[in-house]
Amino acid sequence: MTNTQLVTALGAWRRPGVALARALADAVGDAALDGRLRVGSRLPAERRVAEALGVSRGTVIAALGILRDEGWVDTRHGSASTLRLPPEAAARIAPFSASGEDGVIDLRRAVPAAPHATYQQALLRAAERSGPLLAESGETGPGLPELRSLIADRFTDEGLATRPEQVLITSGTRSALALLSARLRPRAVAVEIPTYPDPLAGFRAAGIRLVGCRVTTDGWDLDQLQDAFRSAAGGLAYLVPDFQNPTGALMPATARRTVAWLAERHRVTVVSDETMRDLDLREPPAPLLRIPRSVLIGSAAKTVWGGLRVGWLRGPAALIAELAHHPLCGSLTAVPTQQLVASELLRDLEPVLRHRRAALRRQRDHLSGLLSGDDRWRFTVPPGGLALWLRLTSMRVDAVVTRARAHGLELAAGTSFAADATNSRHLRLPFTPPIATLDRVAAALDCACRDQDA
Ligand SMILES: Cc1ncc(COP(=O)(O)O)c(C=O)c1O
Repeated sequence: MTNTQLVTALGAWRRPGVALARALADAVGDAALDGRLRVGSRLPAERRVAEALGVSRGTVIAALGILRDEGWVDTRHGSASTLRLPPEAAARIAPFSASGEDGVIDLRRAVPAAPHATYQQALLRAAERSGPLLAESGETGPGLPELRSLIADRFTDEGLATRPEQVLITSGTRSALALLSARLRPRAVAVEIPTYPDPLAGFRAAGIRLVGCRVTTDGWDLDQLQDAFRSAAGGLAYLVPDFQNPTGALMPATARRTVAWLAERHRVTVVSDETMRDLDLREPPAPLLRIPRSVLIGSAAKTVWGGLRVGWLRGPAALIAELAHHPLCGSLTAVPTQQLVASELLRDLEPVLRHRRAALRRQRDHLSGLLSGDDRWRFTVPPGGLALWLRLTSMRVDAVVTRARAHGLELAAGTSFAADATNSRHLRLPFTPPIATLDRVAAALDCACRDQDA
């Protein structure tokens, strides 16, 4: 690679408050991940890199040291450094079911695979230090202190001062919602239409009335939000304000303030599901706001792995204490050894997030590129999340889903995300599989739609 190629690929790589060597190493890793720098190519000599980037040779040597330690470059004694992907970055990000290795590409769920090497190392470290925990009762109450602290620190670092007593560990967001519903016993809950369907089933099973408000790729319908909060007065609102599933929409600041105001006025407890929050695919990711005074729930299901089964709930310490004493808490919290694994992963989550975002960004752009300019559907490229939300212009979605199945592609129709069975013109298309699989996804969708035209 030439100096010019390196400079162009790195762009504006300096980051305020980050040491030059660290920022340079990160930029090289990101450029390799999204293909701006070719894996296998040789970096120019240290002195030339220093001149081209306007930094000292010492900075370049330090950055190369970081890259070498993290597995991004190979340096043979006395020769140039060659760019490569570390094993964990090269690991699959889609489960077998979504990459079609058994013949069928199952995209009914938008789920990434675990970051293999990192996850396995966390398992080993957790096993190594599980001794004291195994001598305990196995009941962790509100959660392992170290995990509660790590999660509280993440909130605090983001500007939301949080004490460990404000955090309760759960076995995912569904458990957090089940526990909250059991404690608060709302008669009604305001939900987005469309939304993540599993909580809807949980609310229904608990006999809670659902009140819908519309959200599209363009955002939230504030009139409907107002009506929904009025109807759910005294109850709950379950919202996904960050890269909403399935639309990918990001709630603007004004809407967040409106929600907080409506909540106060109608005594509604707002529960913000932040599971998608770290999947910000904007470049660079920008700080995100929060709905003031909302109870926050999160999960490692999309950033790390669904099988970890660790999530959390952040709220006032008094609410956390009440939930911790609820009889269902013991069965809705994560098992202690999984909490140890989660602690190991959360301690150094940033590299995992960086890899995941880079891969998702590449895949989103690839799938969007394959589908754009086709008047059989409309979509907006989402700023984050895991899926495209396609609106078919004339074809019937149920027929397309059936035909797609015949072409080896399983998809979820829009209706499955809607509390009221609307959204019948929409399809959710996850971009979780690797690029080569996405080519097959687009081809199968094309065939499914042609069959219907015929
Ligand atoms: C908005 C949202 N929250 C949470 C989850 C995961 O839930 P859990 O942590 O219960 O596995 C998903 C998975 O699809 C989701 O879409």
